[in-house]
Amino acid sequence: MSSTLLLAVVCVVVGVITTLAMRSYLITGLDDRLDALADHSMAPRSCDLGPRDTELPYLTAFGVPDGTVGVARSGGEVREAGMVAGGGAVLEPSARQQAVLSSVHADGHHYTLILPGLGAYRVKTVHADTHTGPVTVTTALPFDYVDRTVSRLVAVEAVVTAGGLLLAAIAAAVIIGYNLRPLNRVSATATRVSCQPLDHGEVTALERVPAADAGPGTEVGRVAAALNRLLGHVEGALEARYATETRMRRFLADASHELRTPLASIAGYAQLLRRDTADGTSDSPEDIGPRTAFALRRIESGIVRMSALVEDLLLLARLDAGRPLDREDVGLGSLVADAVHDAHAAAPGHRWLIELPDDPVHITGDPDRLHQAVSNLLANARVHTPPGTTVTAAVVRLDGQALIRVTDDGPGIPAALLLRVFERFARGDASRSRAAGSSGLGLAIVTAVAAAHHGRADVTSEPGRTVFTVALPLGPVRDQPPPSGKTPST
Ligand SMILES: Nc1ncnc2c1ncn2[C@@H]1O[C@H](COP(=O)(O)OP(=O)(O)OP(=O)(O)O)[C@@H](O)[C@H]1O
Ligand SMILES: [Mg+2]
Repeated sequence: MSSTLLLAVVCVVVGVITTLAMRSYLITGLDDRLDALADHSMAPRSCDLGPRDTELPYLTAFGVPDGTVGVARSGGEVREAGMVAGGGAVLEPSARQQAVLSSVHADGHHYTLILPGLGAYRVKTVHADTHTGPVTVTTALPFDYVDRTVSRLVAVEAVVTAGGLLLAAIAAAVIIGYNLRPLNRVSATATRVSCQPLDHGEVTALERVPAADAGPGTEVGRVAAALNRLLGHVEGALEARYATETRMRRFLADASHELRTPLASIAGYAQLLRRDTADGTSDSPEDIGPRTAFALRRIESGIVRMSALVEDLLLLARLDAGRPLDREDVGLGSLVADAVHDAHAAAPGHRWLIELPDDPVHITGDPDRLHQAVSNLLANARVHTPPGTTVTAAVVRLDGQALIRVTDDGPGIPAALLLRVFERFARGDASRSRAAGSSGLGLAIVTAVAAAHHGRADVTSEPGRTVFTVALPLGPVRDQPPPSGKTPST
């Protein structure tokens, strides 16, 4: 396109220069003829021996073009005027035409002027001395020959240029298109690779530009070879990233798993210690001493927190590893109602509402995981809002999706936290949350459970209204493919 534009500019410049040169050449030719006629008008007078019939004998000479006008003046008066008409006839120009011609300076220069009714003329005036006294002869040659020739030249140039440009554009499109086919294949490969999800999971071998297009002989081939090298590096980096992720996941899962056993023993020993009192049943400070009672309570609450944390970590590790979910028909209405009843029992100071559609909403999924996700949302509405807060749990069917929505009119989530609230270990006031037993994994589990069901979790929050939505597809849930054969054995 740009080359055609460049060619068009060159053609226009060449055309303009050619036209101007041609016009100048034609005017020079016209002036030469005008000089010859002017000389001719004086020549007989140089050997003038007596009176003549006419002051303008050259007008009737052979070869004088039709339209040539001559005016002879002496003493300021027009003595004779004639215009060559077709067939050798000489007509008299009009008075206005004569007046215009009479106004031309007798300085021997060439002028271009408009003769009324005749158009543009090239004019020259000369002096001649005759036996009857000095005579001024003005000769005018029609200019339209120059204009006509230039117009025709411009028309021919325009047609030839347009045709040439069209042919050049077609030829350029065909040739460039042919030459750029390898580049198209390179860009198609790059586009396909860029559409692959590279930010998570295992990256299978990235596509490469075919070797035939990646030869070092052409620029495109060198670009393709460089792209292939780049893809090789990216593939290596992604494999390393995936291996590290898998190692981390396995480590986390193994560590969580391993922690369960010592935690269970600590819990058991704590119970044993509690029984080891005066009567074997009481844990009152009077029986076991105030410091031991305090230490026991701290140990037990620590065990509860740690067990919950370990279970959360284990669950997240399993979801990350893409372990297949249970696939059962789950009635979301009863699931949400059960979870709300549990929450109500745990926090009777809150106002708990349930909104369910008339038609029951069922999905295929893992009931335990879904129950945990809903419980986490309700626990947040319970823990992070003051008593008296109204919490509404709703199930909605919308656009082929089932939505579980938990809304509360509590203080809301601070804007800075809202952006990363679904991240792991993202908590509000860290010190208060930690004291309240928060670990910051609840919403990470919600979003991981939603993703495992091919759904998603969202939140909007402002003071007085916080809405968590889990959107789940209504169709059957496909198992997530395990990331690789390296799935942790948890
Ligand atoms: N309904 C809510 N109202 C106000 N703040 C909320 C609400 N839900 C969550 N948050 C804020 O988001 C943070 C993250 O919640 P998340 O459930 O992930 O962790 P957590 O509740 O702190 O700990 P965990 O759930 O693991 O015990 C919370 O610490 C809290 O500050
Ligand atoms: Mg929580």
